[in-house]
Amino acid sequence: MKIAVIGSGYVGLVTGACFADSGNDVTCIDIDAKKIEALKKGEVPIFEPGLAELVEHNAEAGRLTFTTDTAAGVAPADVIYLAVGTPQGDDGSANLSAMWSVVKAIAPHLREDAVVVTKSTVPVGTNARIFAMLKEFTGRECDVASNPEFLKEGAAIEDFMKPDRVVVGVRRPEVAEILQQLYSPFLRTEKPFIVMSPQSAEMTKYVANALLATKISFINEMANLCERMGGDINDVRRGIGHDSRIGFSFLFPGVGYGGSCFPKDVRALTAMSGEHGCTPAMLLAVDEVNERQKSVLSEKLAAHFGDDLAGKTIAVWGLAFKPRTDDIREAPALVLIRWLLERGAKVRAHDPEAIDNVRAELGDAIAYCRRMEALEGADALCILTEWKDYHSPDFAEMLHVMNQPVVFDGRNLYESERMRRRGFCYHSIGRPP
Ligand code: UGA
Repeated sequence: MKIAVIGSGYVGLVTGACFADSGNDVTCIDIDAKKIEALKKGEVPIFEPGLAELVEHNAEAGRLTFTTDTAAGVAPADVIYLAVGTPQGDDGSANLSAMWSVVKAIAPHLREDAVVVTKSTVPVGTNARIFAMLKEFTGRECDVASNPEFLKEGAAIEDFMKPDRVVVGVRRPEVAEILQQLYSPFLRTEKPFIVMSPQSAEMTKYVANALLATKISFINEMANLCERMGGDINDVRRGIGHDSRIGFSFLFPGVGYGGSCFPKDVRALTAMSGEHGCTPAMLLAVDEVNERQKSVLSEKLAAHFGDDLAGKTIAVWGLAFKPRTDDIREAPALVLIRWLLERGAKVRAHDPEAIDNVRAELGDAIAYCRRMEALEGADALCILTEWKDYHSPDFAEMLHVMNQPVVFDGRNLYESERMRRRGFCYHSIGRPP
């Protein structure tokens, strides 16, 4: 099939590269000429394992091209994927201005039998609005479908190629058949292709993310209770997870969720609820608990050192909101670092991928170091992201280079008892000190 993907950001690029890889003829379109020029030269502007190779391979094979020319990309396409950004507006709702201008731009060039598909996360009802706009612009009823994405940063190619399920929201069954054909190479393992209305598909995306965020805030709250009551959240997690109704996944306590999806989507669903006269008590609590959780390490630091950290050097391992990405949007590490700087501490930070992004935000306010170098003269180490590099460091070397052997582990990477035996003062999340 001939596919146009509008918006060459994270979702658009992954979608375009994967559909090209399954043999389609894909054109990725973006209004950002710099980005398109870079992509034409094989430079992928984001860090995502396997993406650069996939783009290069399919571009060389002639199945994946890049352009700023919307008309040329859209006119021959059977399917047009809309994958533009829907950032959070001031009131928490999704800002759809990029989506509306794309709908306007594609309308004059759409083939009569083309299918327009929304891939971006959009508020419930957006699909219906696009349908109405296209009817107004073209004078006919165009096929508009919703196909939410469930990709995780750092595992996006794998998630696209081996999805747990594919969800599509359509008005006509024929449109579902076209999309099923497109996805059939990725559904060989009998994973379900689920067809529903566009509204249900839009809602499915928000409900999935809101439930995952809820699991995280819930386990974080329980971890905090364990700390005060003397339990160990790791044991509790094992104790509950074997109940097949509960399971183990997404119940790792930590320093709160970040990234471009959970915080934004929970707030967008909250805003939507408000617009429909509902008070979403659960969603509000999930966001509030998460915001508080981002301060969990600073509270432990203050309890240990007092509120004034002037003269103290604090090492921070892990700046990205999670491993295998350079993304620092809503990253708990930034909240901690700003708190440390406000209290006069010197910060020495390490991250395998996110340093450039943090430097763009914080400049020279902190020192950017190699992993062990960050510990030199440090009065404490804070671990914010569970990068593999941090799982088994040379503990003897750590004791040697640190000024004080104090570790605040926001990701529960080590055994408390062993850390104590090694000579560290070790604080983690939801476990006895
Ligand atoms: C999330 C969803 O997992 C994807 O299914 C979805 O497609 C995507 O949002 C999206 O809407 O685009 P992502 O934001 O890439 O994906 O990251 P996750 O791996 O889900 O992690 C999100 C945050 O939750 C991270 O900060 C992570 O550290 C935290 N987390 C996750 C925990 O604190 N505990 C856990 O048990 C799991």
